[in-house]
Amino acid sequence: MANSRSGDSMTARIVRVLDTFTSERTMQTASEIARRTGLPSSSAHRIIAELIGQGLLERDDENRIRLGMRLWELALRGSSALRLRQAALPHMERVQTIIREHTQLAVLEHEEALFLERLSHPDAGANITRIAGRLPLNASSSGLVLLAFADPELRERVLAGPLRAVSRETVTDAATLTSLLTSIRRRGYVSAPGSIEAVSTGVAVPVRDRGEVVAALSVVLPRDAATQPAVDALLAAAKSIEGDLRSSR
Ligand code: PHB
Repeated sequence: MANSRSGDSMTARIVRVLDTFTSERTMQTASEIARRTGLPSSSAHRIIAELIGQGLLERDDENRIRLGMRLWELALRGSSALRLRQAALPHMERVQTIIREHTQLAVLEHEEALFLERLSHPDAGANITRIAGRLPLNASSSGLVLLAFADPELRERVLAGPLRAVSRETVTDAATLTSLLTSIRRRGYVSAPGSIEAVSTGVAVPVRDRGEVVAALSVVLPRDAATQPAVDALLAAAKSIEGDLRSSR
């Protein structure tokens, strides 16, 4: 792969362009992208034009650029996330009919919880989660479950900090977090009031594939709602998803 004068391979430069898009920043001008990559402007503009030509980026009528549908299509093709989402969706819908708030599916990705799916009732309370968005492992209920069952090495790395606070109640003390993770492994679920937003409680359980935790299933409730019905619905759904994953091999 040809290298630029800065030493970046072409692939690394393409990734730098794509990485300027976030769940909050979905539309940008070519100049904004070029500036954010830190690449020489002419090189960034050339890569952007080529990615548009290949359908990996798209330009709208006002000359703003977003990630292309082709990128979505390629990313989903045969991905483990798609298989997981397909197995989970019918059971997430069942949780929704019982709890009528928000139900979400997340996986561990680069030391964060990455959300693959979210279902929300029209009258549901607050929820900052976005599909394809991320939340810190020590803050979201899904993240806490994923961290509790993660590889011990990764757990040690995360516990070594820094542990980012999302709200005033996010656990950022390593000793407190360690005992919380132990209690999650023992109980098989977490209830995390106020950890992301003071007004909400996240409740999450692990989802296993061939004995290994591969995802977290969660609901976001108004802070004062009872959590036991959500725990029961989530545990039943996780068990059904595990059954479907077993038979989809
Ligand atoms: C959680 O998973 O704990 C969570 C996520 C989003 C919120 C609140 C709680 O808005």
